[in-house]
Amino acid sequence: MACPGRRNFLWFLSVVVLISSSTRAQPGRFDVIAQNAGVASMHTVVTHFSNAIFLDRTNIGPSQINLAAGGCRDNPDDRTLKHDCTAHSVMFDYFSGASRALSIYSDTWCSSGQFLPNGTLLQTGGDFDGFFKVRYMTPCPNGGTCDWQESKTEFLHSGRWYASNQLLPDGRVIVVGGRSAFSYEFIPDRGAGQFELPFLKETNDPTFNNLYPFLHLLPDNNLFVFANRDSILLNYFTNTVLRRYPTLPGEPRNYPSAGSSVMLPLDSANSFSNAEILVCGGSNKDAYAYPAGQLPASQTCGRMVATSGDPNWNILNMPTRRNMGDMVLLPTGQVLIINGAQSGSQGWGYASSPCLNPVIFDPVSSKFETQAASTIPRMYHSTANLLPDGRVLVAGSNTHEYYTFTGAFPTELRVEAFSPAYLDPANDWQRPKLVNYPGVINYGMPFSVDVSLPGNLTGDIELTLLSAPFTTHSFSQGQRQLKLAVSTPLRANGNTFTVKSSAPPSAVIAPPSFYMLFPLHNGIPGTATWVMVTY
Ligand SMILES: *[C@@H]1O[C@H](CO)[C@@H](O)[C@H](O)[C@H]1NC(C)=O
Ligand SMILES: *[C@@H]1O[C@H](CO)[C@@H](O)[C@H](O)[C@H]1NC(C)=O
Repeated sequence: MACPGRRNFLWFLSVVVLISSSTRAQPGRFDVIAQNAGVASMHTVVTHFSNAIFLDRTNIGPSQINLAAGGCRDNPDDRTLKHDCTAHSVMFDYFSGASRALSIYSDTWCSSGQFLPNGTLLQTGGDFDGFFKVRYMTPCPNGGTCDWQESKTEFLHSGRWYASNQLLPDGRVIVVGGRSAFSYEFIPDRGAGQFELPFLKETNDPTFNNLYPFLHLLPDNNLFVFANRDSILLNYFTNTVLRRYPTLPGEPRNYPSAGSSVMLPLDSANSFSNAEILVCGGSNKDAYAYPAGQLPASQTCGRMVATSGDPNWNILNMPTRRNMGDMVLLPTGQVLIINGAQSGSQGWGYASSPCLNPVIFDPVSSKFETQAASTIPRMYHSTANLLPDGRVLVAGSNTHEYYTFTGAFPTELRVEAFSPAYLDPANDWQRPKLVNYPGVINYGMPFSVDVSLPGNLTGDIELTLLSAPFTTHSFSQGQRQLKLAVSTPLRANGNTFTVKSSAPPSAVIAPPSFYMLFPLHNGIPGTATWVMVTY
């Protein structure tokens, strides 16, 4: 066999170096996991079985997946398709990429939701005949027959279109805002009625900018509410505004300006007492009123410790401008910012210049790292949700009134997974695996897990809990992360180690629900298990 000549070898070497340096420059990767999910997901949740629920508008005309035989819906109130044999929600198997049609009847357009403590999804509001609706979906494993149920007895006090929800420590869900709904209410209602929230009126400018308010339940059991450029701390028991935070400089951040927000991970190291809010992106204040201008999106984030005695926004610059980004808390405690556009605003055809490269923000270094690009623009009505295997499920994008497969940004039915660099096979040698773990943990109680490693213990073992949020319109309602305290790992046998930990101290820190419990070794996450956090 001939050896390659020196020239050829050097050429070969430089190609290898080029390829590996370009991989290094752009970490992470996208994979298409379904060519056609049947619906473009406007609202996405990941259930505690191996599937996600995709939910679009029901009055959008025909989708690309049929309801089960005989399952046509006849809805005299539907303005588009009164006899509709297609589905507008599916159960999506994120391993096989298969969709199963689900049936939902009233209009779910720009609705809100949250998982209840028992794992049932509560979903509220929408437009037209869905304005006052309360719906439930009890998820099931792939192959199951679970489906949507629309309540015939429970209704919202105000019609809520573009509201946000947050699960509360007592298992109720608070539903805040909506178009012309300057109030909040609870599900179940238990006779409480609804409460005026003038802050939502004050932040409602001529092009709204206060819709889908960012809600974060702080460790003092008050609700942080952000709308437009302002935020308050709300005692939702007494309907008292306890604090007004400084205005966040820059562009408006809520619908239709579409920034995004997360609460950074709560940490056992400070008894979960420190809550830091991050708000990123947004649109030029005139972008929605003047869509033809395609005005540049915001390039800034604001970071503020909402529990501080003297809170102030610290302004950071992202590598690129972005609106309609989705912020996803990763098991590493970093924040993925993915999807969206560099100009315009939310609205049908109102944006251009897609942000094809996600970025990862590291709260420790306060730095952003640009990630490998997708080839698929994810514009208005797209979503991103963390999966238990550490991938991020990316779905939707429809900037049209109906399904439209022509033009610049066609309705997108493909589903992708973004895999951050921590999933690179090069990290497998230290990837931890949970081999023994509880299915339920009780507030304040100790528990332990066994973690098996492919080789020696080379760094810290960590445990982190992540909620399963309801994601729509660039905000993941109820997204929450907790870094749990862990003991020094004790060798159980071979490369299996026992780690002792403690459940969150209270339902204020982690409202009762199913969470993903991720193990990390040396900063590399393994696959999570679903754990019910309860009283
Ligand atoms: C969970 O609670 C809701 C609300 O009470 C109820 O409708 C649903 O059936 C329950 N789900 C399960 C799985 O028990
Ligand atoms: C694991 O540690 C042992 C003892 O320190 C060492 O001999 C061995 O080479 C290590 N194995 C690997 C795969 O690093």
